[in-house]
Amino acid sequence: MENREDLKSGSVRLADDGKSCIILDQTQLPNRQVYLELESAQDFYDAIKTLAVRGAPAIGICAAYAVYVLAQQKQTEEYALFRDALRKDGEYLISSRPTAVNLSWAVRQMLGVVEENGNLPVSQIVGLLGDECRAIHAEDIEMCRRISEYGLSLVKAGDGILTHCNAGPLATSKYGTAIGPAILGKERGVDLKVFSDETRPLLQGARLTSYELMMAGVDVTLICDNMASIVMKNGWVQACFVGCDRIAANGDFANKIGTSGVAILAKHYGIPFYTLGPTSTIDMDCPTGDDIKIEQRDPDEIRSMWYRQPMAPEGVKCYNPAFDVTDHELVTAIVTDRGIVYPPFDENLKKIFA
Ligand code: MRU
Repeated sequence: MENREDLKSGSVRLADDGKSCIILDQTQLPNRQVYLELESAQDFYDAIKTLAVRGAPAIGICAAYAVYVLAQQKQTEEYALFRDALRKDGEYLISSRPTAVNLSWAVRQMLGVVEENGNLPVSQIVGLLGDECRAIHAEDIEMCRRISEYGLSLVKAGDGILTHCNAGPLATSKYGTAIGPAILGKERGVDLKVFSDETRPLLQGARLTSYELMMAGVDVTLICDNMASIVMKNGWVQACFVGCDRIAANGDFANKIGTSGVAILAKHYGIPFYTLGPTSTIDMDCPTGDDIKIEQRDPDEIRSMWYRQPMAPEGVKCYNPAFDVTDHELVTAIVTDRGIVYPPFDENLKKIFA
């Protein structure tokens, strides 16, 4: 990315004429800054599925823009036809990735606008959809800022933070969630030292987190996933900050595969373990982590994708879940835009929605 301002405000935006959505293709980073213009339902589906746009909040924002872009293409003034066509698009978008709740949350917010305004002409509903998707994006920027503030209050200058995957500006808007405290801290002269797990198999930590933090001037050290234990044992980590894709009502949460292992290690070494996420990532209709659907991905992500030549025997059986669920008993607190939620999570998560 040539322009640091772009990185600061996230990786997704609506085109100036509102007729398409521009994303920074995250699969190309850190080597190339390539922007994609998304117009059709297929474009949006593919961008989400292939992780060109990724990170739960960024996926949600992109899906909200998708509904608006697609709404403008409907050639009908008849409300029922318009609504049904958009519902179909919404279902298609939601089917691209199952785990991050922000995707279905954003699509439902947008479809809610359609349902609630059935008495208006279609052209006016389209205008309201434009307002709604822009509001979802603006709200995410504000939520990330608040999450970063709360996260920063949990640490002090010089502390080491371990993070897994990427929950920064690329995955959200502006500061990000899990790495927001480090970026905000840098702006305020509170310097944190971040250890970034490389995050096998798609290397979001290596490709994206270390890149974003270097761009922001934050002290970042890249480690392989299997090095988390030694840096903790060395006393270099005072807190773990990770993102989340869906938080269940009891505080269990799904995040990038490997997160639950970090939580188990943190417990062993007595290090506080926090997940940071916006309220749009909390799914109160999902009772526990067992109810979260885990995405399974292409075995070639493990076997061959990142190598000049395959690093595993052709056709070897692979198990490639994209996420795992961290048990709420391993979580010190959940940092949200509405405050820091401590156990018992089943009671205290309800309170932030009251
Ligand atoms: O498969 P990805 O790269 O979309 O997984 C992303 C994560 O697991 C992030 O930690 C999560 O979405 C939070 S982003 C603020």
